[in-house]
Amino acid sequence: SISSLSGISCRAIYAAYEDDEEPNCFTLNEGKCPNENITFWLYTNTLLEGQQLFMHNLSDAEFRPRKPLKVLIHGFDGNRDKLPNNKLRTLLTSQNYHVISADFKNLVMEPCYSQAVENSKYVGRCLAYLLAKLVNDRLVFEEDLHLIGFGLGAHIAGFTSNFMPKNLPLERITALNPAKPLFLGPIDDDKLDPSDAKFVDVVHTDVLMLGLLNSVGHVDFYVNMGISQPNCGDVKKISTHYCYHERAVTYYAESITTPVGFFGYKCPNYHSFMEGECPPNNDIEQMGFYVRLGARGIYFLDTNYDSPYAMGRNNMNLSHETKNRTYIGEEFLDGFFAL
Ligand SMILES: *[C@@H]1O[C@H](CO)[C@@H](O)[C@H](O)[C@H]1NC(C)=O
Ligand SMILES: *[C@@H]1O[C@H](CO)[C@@H](O)[C@H](O)[C@H]1NC(C)=O
Ligand SMILES: *[C@@H]1O[C@H](CO)[C@@H](O)[C@H](O)[C@H]1NC(C)=O
Ligand SMILES: *[C@@H]1O[C@H](CO)[C@@H](O)[C@H](O)[C@H]1NC(C)=O
Repeated sequence: SISSLSGISCRAIYAAYEDDEEPNCFTLNEGKCPNENITFWLYTNTLLEGQQLFMHNLSDAEFRPRKPLKVLIHGFDGNRDKLPNNKLRTLLTSQNYHVISADFKNLVMEPCYSQAVENSKYVGRCLAYLLAKLVNDRLVFEEDLHLIGFGLGAHIAGFTSNFMPKNLPLERITALNPAKPLFLGPIDDDKLDPSDAKFVDVVHTDVLMLGLLNSVGHVDFYVNMGISQPNCGDVKKISTHYCYHERAVTYYAESITTPVGFFGYKCPNYHSFMEGECPPNNDIEQMGFYVRLGARGIYFLDTNYDSPYAMGRNNMNLSHETKNRTYIGEEFLDGFFAL
């Protein structure tokens, strides 16, 4: 059954994040904002080293002249210089965006995964306070609010929305392989969902282990079926899944500069795609930074084996092959994907 299969992969995940015995794990018991463990840093094309933002003197920070804002949110075991920051920040500032990088490394340290999930809600709250103040002080415009989160950071973008003032919705959230572990519940407030921003676009690159299989956005792209990514190594190794996970950021970074683009074609659901029920058609959408804001639904695309990964629109011969692409036996896969 599906549930026993999810059980298998959950046990694998919890074994990877064994944290019960770890003495240094902690959860914030009161999530005050501002919080010494949750900091925000502004980067611009003339401010490459970053400038820490403080609530009491935000207007002294270098938000002028006005530029659209991209907020980068790292994941588990991250910090403001790790993914997605290291692959996206300079690219974005050089394209004339303001970038704010959140940093909450003490709250999401390896191996304290369940504490990290708990602490993430406070990160969302403090980020919401900051963004609301930036808009109220007219340093940032409401329509310029775009959050880009990786792994756990994608859900933090969702939590942020829950703490925004009702009259100040987030414009866009980009979720780069949103994390799976502990986000399998039915309650939308506990994970990213389309109500969290006017537009939520999602890139799935590791649906079997570290990322979510379910669609959680207005538009969800499954790259190489989301099962495995090329050139990442032995499918039975955990490190290979980290490579799949990271690839979401790599593809997104490439989507900013690619001359050909990543294009996916539509299928009503994952299972139909697996069954080959969705022949390539004209219902295609571009994935990534330049996704069409009106895009809705579930899209599939393949990539090249190596960088540059984008295949442009010549992507009409997608693989449905699952053999040798996962640690899960062929005989179980159908059940796993019977969503
Ligand atoms: C804001 O105040 C802090 C001290 O609380 C200071 O270190 C920082 O440089 C100030 N930021 C700006 C942009 O002036
Ligand atoms: C910040 O994190 C440290 C552990 O790294 C913890 O001891 C401290 O209490 C935290 N501070 C706040 C305000 O939560
Ligand atoms: C499509 O895939 C099949 C099977 O892998 C292959 O034989 C064929 O050459 C491919 N066609 C194109 C246009 O790439
Ligand atoms: C899967 O791997 C086995 C052993 O390495 C190989 O014999 C087989 O041809 C592979 N199957 C496919 C579809 O690549």
